[in-house]
Amino acid sequence: MSILPKTRRALKHLFFGETALPEEFTVGIVEPQTEIALWLHGMGTPVDVTYRYSTACSDPFVLCLPFEEGRAPAGKDRDRLSLKFCERSGQKRVLGEIGLTWKETIPAAGSEFFLFVPRNAKNDCLPKLQLYAHYLLHAYKQWATVNTSGVTMSSLHRRAAMVSFIRPHPVMLGSIQDELGGNIFPMNIMGDLGNDRFGFALKDSRRAAHLVERTGRIALSSVPLSHSSIAFKFAAHHFRQSVDWNELPFATKPSSTFHIPVPVFALRVRELEVEKIHKIGSHTFFVARILSDERFSEAPGLNVIHGYYQAWRLRGRPADLKASRAQDGFNKCGHYE
Ligand SMILES: Cc1cc2nc3c(=O)[nH]c(=O)nc-3n(C[C@H](O)[C@H](O)[C@H](O)COP(=O)(O)O)c2cc1C
Repeated sequence: MSILPKTRRALKHLFFGETALPEEFTVGIVEPQTEIALWLHGMGTPVDVTYRYSTACSDPFVLCLPFEEGRAPAGKDRDRLSLKFCERSGQKRVLGEIGLTWKETIPAAGSEFFLFVPRNAKNDCLPKLQLYAHYLLHAYKQWATVNTSGVTMSSLHRRAAMVSFIRPHPVMLGSIQDELGGNIFPMNIMGDLGNDRFGFALKDSRRAAHLVERTGRIALSSVPLSHSSIAFKFAAHHFRQSVDWNELPFATKPSSTFHIPVPVFALRVRELEVEKIHKIGSHTFFVARILSDERFSEAPGLNVIHGYYQAWRLRGRPADLKASRAQDGFNKCGHYE
């Protein structure tokens, strides 16, 4: 047998130790997550925006922060803000930071939705040397593989996106339905925007974005960790015009207001009516009003975090980290490898 794979594994272990984890790492967390707090700095006393924040686009990487009308920063003050990702409890350590540059504003009744691009990004989940080794490996992989996603992020925007995944991103199954048909697909680029508003982003080159534009409504179902692999399997639905509800591998029930089919296993179902459709780059950003919000279970839901943050969460616990890695594989494909 060639010694190449063994040498590669040994080198990988030497440089990365236990931290060579998938970038998109799955964990079970009860909603709403309380382990990470997001603090907006640059407007006097820092403001807790943990539940008032959403990613709006991947390429360019764009963040959305809502401000009440008349309370938003103006002029140069808009470019002095930064977002810190911190432990909510314990030592309240800062685990990452994104410096913000204002890009544009989406006006809406009573609120202004500010869109920002990163000015800089700092990740404190890993020791510096290890982090730079990861960045190098990442750059090499980018260079060596054919990019089929259509997303070509700059290094800064990519590093900012990595920081953004320190905040656990709940995975939901989004259902849409009208007289032309229905579909159900996984989503995790989203967030609460306060005042009963919710933001989410869908890739413009996929069908799902255009289906939501057509129907103007969506029901978001939180996925229990036990049903994670279904969410990953349904990634292919982003490309589909419609699905046959009777052929899904689970039962559905109608959502309370729109009567859109949602999985019976949903931990929580939110029904949204789209108010703003904003095309940015790779993604269309939707701002929607929450019309209903029902909770059916307090069981842990499927969340995605960055692998660097998982390495930090389980630092000094190699056995637990190894087990979590096996669990991540199971969550994604429904069997242990
Ligand atoms: C758990 C999960 C969450 C996803 N969330 C989103 C999302 O919020 N927005 C989106 O446009 N696509 C989302 N997708 C779709 C993927 O970004 C991607 O388009 C799909 O997996 C096809 O892969 P490709 O784009 O690399 O070809 C999600 C997929 C999965 C598995």
